[in-house]
Amino acid sequence: TTKTKIGNSEFRNCFMNAAGVYCYDKNELEQVINSAAGTFVTKTATLQSRSGNPEPRYHDTALGSINSMGLPNLGFDYYLDYLLELQKTHPDRTFFFSLVGMSTEDTHTLLKKVQESDFNGITELNLSCPNVPGKPQIAYDMETTENLLTDIFSYFKKPLGVKLPPYFDIVHFDQAATVFNKFPLTFINCVNSIGNGLVIEDESVVIKPKNGFGGIGGEYIKPTALANVHAFYKRLNPSIQIIGTGGVLTGQDAFEHILCGASMVQLGTTLHKEGPSAFERITNELKAIMDKKGYKTIEDFKGKLKYL
Ligand code: DHB
Repeated sequence: TTKTKIGNSEFRNCFMNAAGVYCYDKNELEQVINSAAGTFVTKTATLQSRSGNPEPRYHDTALGSINSMGLPNLGFDYYLDYLLELQKTHPDRTFFFSLVGMSTEDTHTLLKKVQESDFNGITELNLSCPNVPGKPQIAYDMETTENLLTDIFSYFKKPLGVKLPPYFDIVHFDQAATVFNKFPLTFINCVNSIGNGLVIEDESVVIKPKNGFGGIGGEYIKPTALANVHAFYKRLNPSIQIIGTGGVLTGQDAFEHILCGASMVQLGTTLHKEGPSAFERITNELKAIMDKKGYKTIEDFKGKLKYL
């Protein structure tokens, strides 16, 4: 079985979409619900709906993707209303709600609304959007992150996790883990896209916003994703679980994320390229690897990476 648990919630499968892919509206989210995925996360919602950056703003390449979407979303109320409806029609399932404010004040407004609502799922606070001009990735500023989480946990009592950008320095892993260990986080999600890459074809950039700079996903980023999952697995309180995201094209990639410590694995670029049938394919590939190795559950190998 590839069942898993995050916080107190059980999931029939350890795969789900990554925020931003197949999660813009009810139609896309329903396709994920009806696939082999264990659950979904919504597109990161802001207080007001947003149309996002000018197109073209997403481009597939042989080894992955580049995007600068700019947080296009239907607004907080749309996703909350749908999640509340799903709690009635699917009482046995738990879904994730991704959020961030366009300002600190907005983030608190959003999280207070979630706290006061009947939402009983899991909230993912996006600290790592690389694509809104003039807005730095929050999680690259440790002091801002610590102050934000201090304020949030003064009123927010529901399960909460954070979506992180990749870090590239051991000292940054240490500093970030020290901050996260001060809070009752349910999970961290490693990693968002590698921010501000540049893809060129025919002497030209391939996306319009920011003269072509955008977040890189897919095969390019697996080593960075695995390093982040494992670095935090070794540093965080065991009560903080890890969602592994980045470079999952096959069951082998998912196996490696779990070996590094992931309790759930998300598909972004691969889901965008292949559609929701990717969940069944990759689940079957992971199950075949587990069968061959004699592993019955993901707990049998989670975090058990071998060193030389
Ligand atoms: C967008 C991209 C991200 O990587 C993210 O975390 C949030 C939003 C975007 O451009 O829409």
